[in-house]
Amino acid sequence: QNETDFATGDVVFMDRGDGNSALLHLHGATLISWKCQGLENLFLSSKSVFDNKKAIRGGVPICFPNFGPWSLGPQHGFARTKRWMVAQPPAKNANGDIVASVSLEDDEETRGLWDFNFKLMYSFVLSARSLKSTLVVENTDTKSLEFTTALHTYFRVADIGSTTLQGLKGLKYNDKITGGQDVVETQDLITVDKNYDRVYKDAPNVTVISSGPEPVRKIEMTTVNFPDVVVWNPWDVKAKEIADMEDEEYKQMLCVEAGNIVTPVTLAAGSQFECSHTFTSRL
Ligand code: BG6
Repeated sequence: QNETDFATGDVVFMDRGDGNSALLHLHGATLISWKCQGLENLFLSSKSVFDNKKAIRGGVPICFPNFGPWSLGPQHGFARTKRWMVAQPPAKNANGDIVASVSLEDDEETRGLWDFNFKLMYSFVLSARSLKSTLVVENTDTKSLEFTTALHTYFRVADIGSTTLQGLKGLKYNDKITGGQDVVETQDLITVDKNYDRVYKDAPNVTVISSGPEPVRKIEMTTVNFPDVVVWNPWDVKAKEIADMEDEEYKQMLCVEAGNIVTPVTLAAGSQFECSHTFTSRL
């Protein structure tokens, strides 16, 4: 996932030098690469379809205005399959960091599914070892609206068998695979060894994804205004059912998704809601 693999008008390339960069595709405002000192930290399927229609399989798709199956439209909402506009082309700020932002507003198609006027502003700050992504939802309508959302990050890992996720011990989660009552997480270092699809509730704002054996990665994800964390890996059988993913690729990814899922956000007419996640490499 290099900037040269795409048409110039399709991507926003943020380059801070020294191998620290981020690449955003305007289809769905999907962040498809975040490199830290030359090392790629996001998973992008080799079978991902770039037809400006289908959601990109990997990186950080945005789920909005709905996370999961949706009675009014496609799973995870429409934001990940809409064309976003560049609001602020990449520029250097006073700290030498790279800032950029993209936006999406309602149109006939979105109103046909979900009849609200809204504006999304998605902004980035790329620092030497970190990337902050901020999503601002503005209700530009005259009536209040409700939404659920997630930044659906596919972290790249060398081997899922050598990957741990820390920070969720003691939380209640809903297991979407087994269903039923909430379960309390007992593991300090979570290892994923089967099809996982769990929504952790009232999560603290720091989780750490450590993976190896080579290359070793240690990514801290810090969130603001994202009370839920989804952990997802389709594992072998489900991975085969996903057309835009190689059968074995589930071993190279772990989705850890910051979200507002359990309790929808209600936004009064004219008001805004801001949420963010920051990835920091802690190697
Ligand atoms: C996760 C959901 O966030 O996304 C899973 O919890 C879902 O249930 C997964 O399977 C992938 O969804 P999609 O629509 O991108 O295939």
